Amino acid sequence: MAPITSKISISAGEMVVSNVCKSYGTGLFEKKVVKDCSFSVERGKLTVMIGPSGCGKSTLIKLLAGFEKPTSGSILLNGKPVTGPGRDRLVVFQESALFPWMTSYDNIMYGPIARGENDQKARDLAEFLLDKVGLRDFRSKYPMQLSGGMQRRAELARAMINNPEVMILDEPFRGLDAMSKELMWEYYSALYEESRRTTFFVTTDIDEALFLADRLIIMSNIPTRVRATIEVDIPRPRKLADFFLGDRANEVKMTALSLLHEEAMKSFSGGSKAAADFVESYARRSQRA
Ligand SMILES: Nc1ncnc2c1ncn2[C@@H]1O[C@H](COP(=O)(O)OP(=O)(O)O)[C@@H](O)[C@H]1O
Ligand SMILES: [Mg+2]
Repeated sequence: MAPITSKISISAGEMVVSNVCKSYGTGLFEKKVVKDCSFSVERGKLTVMIGPSGCGKSTLIKLLAGFEKPTSGSILLNGKPVTGPGRDRLVVFQESALFPWMTSYDNIMYGPIARGENDQKARDLAEFLLDKVGLRDFRSKYPMQLSGGMQRRAELARAMINNPEVMILDEPFRGLDAMSKELMWEYYSALYEESRRTTFFVTTDIDEALFLADRLIIMSNIPTRVRATIEVDIPRPRKLADFFLGDRANEVKMTALSLLHEEAMKSFSGGSKAAADFVESYARRSQRA
């Protein structure tokens, strides 16, 4: 398989978040969602953020993407402040953003066509990416005719064709069944290993987080801030079959789980249903581990 870099020249970016706060509403109605949060998304690394459901992860993504502005603090991309959305950052959301009335191919070509770049180079790249995400035979199918996993792969290709400096993914595999999810982890990790594009990946799934991460950022309960950062110094390429047999993977998993438990319990005491579900599913997982 030719490396992905043979078709796309990757220009990786770096993001630095410093002392960011974000609140919604004012006065009595003020809701602090992010509080004094600092971290970096390093060039050419896959940074995974994990935190309890409802802690403020998607809010941080909206800030990094430039859809919203921080109440205070700064967000830099390659040393320059982020002032709004830009082609240098691309967000893949948990909800499907594929247009249901377009085929896989047309969905992938959407970005270049919208920019008036429906040229041979873009069409070649679309072909290459269709191949890369295993959808060559499904190029003329509509999203409703694809499985959940195929839809997610079409979406990844649709993002990659725009060659962003930073890929930002908000729980992109949420809602897939367990088997498709694990296949997507292997798939995504292989894609990442070929390109090493700077990536910021948000999830609530500890196995997903660990398997994909070069660096793991563990977030506190709302108002969220960084609770811990762990370098996941486990060599690549990684294979799911033996990844969780390794001592280091289990050591990091136990550390992360105990911090996440603490944070989830804080919101649990506030009576949130999401937190209760979170605590329950993590309790089951740690028993399995
Ligand atoms: N535009 C908004 N106005 C008011 N509250 C918001 C807004 N966006 C998010 N929130 C609140 O911020 C909190 C964190 O939400 P979110 O960032 O989506 O969490 P996560 O992605 O970690 O599950 C939630 O309590 C949500 O209600
Ligand atoms: Mg979210």
